[in-house]
Amino acid sequence: MLHSAVLNVMIKAARRAGRGLKRDLGEIEHLQVSVKGPRNFVTAADHRAEAIVREELGKARPDYCFLGEEGGAREGTDKTHRWIVDPLDGTTNFLHGIPHFAVSIALERNGAIVAGLIYNPANDEMFVAERGKGAFLNDKRIRVAARMRLADAIVACGLPHYGRGDLALARNEIAAAQRHFAGLRRYGAAALDLAWVAAGRLDAYWERDLSPWDLAAGLLLVREAGGFVSDLDGGDAILTKGNVVAGNDTMHRELLRLLTAAGKETSKQAGNQPGNEPVLP
Ligand code: IPD
Ligand code: CA
Ligand code: CA
Repeated sequence: MLHSAVLNVMIKAARRAGRGLKRDLGEIEHLQVSVKGPRNFVTAADHRAEAIVREELGKARPDYCFLGEEGGAREGTDKTHRWIVDPLDGTTNFLHGIPHFAVSIALERNGAIVAGLIYNPANDEMFVAERGKGAFLNDKRIRVAARMRLADAIVACGLPHYGRGDLALARNEIAAAQRHFAGLRRYGAAALDLAWVAAGRLDAYWERDLSPWDLAAGLLLVREAGGFVSDLDGGDAILTKGNVVAGNDTMHRELLRLLTAAGKETSKQAGNQPGNEPVLP
């Protein structure tokens, strides 16, 4: 399958970083690990992968700006183009030898994501998309699932952990999802959650407290696979708000409705208004 020159640059960078991650995966017991915040780990493998991606993209497009999870923002002379990179999404999985993690690379042009790639080196799955050209997994076209009934559908989510996020809200959201969906999944790699929605493996997904590098490539993949993505208010400020709802048209709409109702109930519960027993959706 013919890819554009810029997508070939991204694929080459991801494959090279992926080889390093596979090598490190085999030696995790020797891997240097540090803590960035509560339950938020970073390893030498994250840093190595980011250095490789930055080097490869920098060789091909030296003027572009770069935003990486570990190294932060680097200005380029071409302000219209910016790489948004998560060198290892799913670090906690990686640290436990769970082969569910990915390199995520997105290219932003004038504020819009025009190319995205999510690569899981553990199973050699390369998800790619370019704006207006569709989404592909290992060069085969992918589309979001067509399921319309929540009772037949699987939804994935992120879970807040100690020291991060609103546990009461998450409990209500999860309870609502459990009541309506056939299954609920927490896989531990936001970029792959979006790629799996694009590939029709997951019917829907939602998460909060995410960063642009977790989301940028996956948003384009879902849209190019015929899916819908928005922030948790139904708007388009996904990268700035750091939260997302994704699925086909029906799943996106229904999940957003459930989450909005769960949010209202959570604030009512917080208000502890007597006689205002929550009527969960
Ligand atoms: C994390 C994963 C996880 C999500 C976290 C992210 P990282 O990314 O995507 O699934 O719940 O919010 O920070 O730290 O492994 O790159
Ligand atoms: Ca991440
Ligand atoms: Ca990461």
